[in-house]
Amino acid sequence: MTYTLDAFVKDAQAALTAHEGPAGREEVRVLLEKLLANPQFVDEAVGPAAPMGARKLYEDKEMGFVVLAHVNPKAHKSPPHDHGNSWAVYGQAIEYTDMSEYRRVDPGAGAGEARLEKVKSYRLEPGHPGVYDVRAIHAIDYPEGSRFVRVTGRDLEYIQRLKFDVAAGQAITIESASAS
Ligand SMILES: [Fe+2]
Repeated sequence: MTYTLDAFVKDAQAALTAHEGPAGREEVRVLLEKLLANPQFVDEAVGPAAPMGARKLYEDKEMGFVVLAHVNPKAHKSPPHDHGNSWAVYGQAIEYTDMSEYRRVDPGAGAGEARLEKVKSYRLEPGHPGVYDVRAIHAIDYPEGSRFVRVTGRDLEYIQRLKFDVAAGQAITIESASAS
């Protein structure tokens, strides 16, 4: 049977209710993998006729999680950043995203002086989502034509988070819902 966005939302609600920590988010990653295997969903969400830009496909007012389609207008490379107290699952749908994960090695946690160490780099291929937990620092680099579906634990519009200027050794507060 075809796995739809509605079915995904119901299963994600159940998973996040049953497991509040990382286990629930890992379940969401597996569910998103299943959803991305539905070509009709991918076409509607991020196919050639989908509107350019980022848009909400679903928002759970009760639990707070959001499903977003990212139809990216051009190639983009983000600085390392976190999603504050929200987790995120990046589900590549078309083309790829090169992902890097970092660890903060200075004793600080907020804005100001910061030093990062790159932990790993890999490519997110279509149909294989990656999960990024609360405060996990990552950077994305994708080519023109890259499109993905992202699930965030909260609406990032209302979340204070950090981006990092590695060369300057600084963490900077950002408030925006962009993928970077
Ligand atoms: Fe991100």
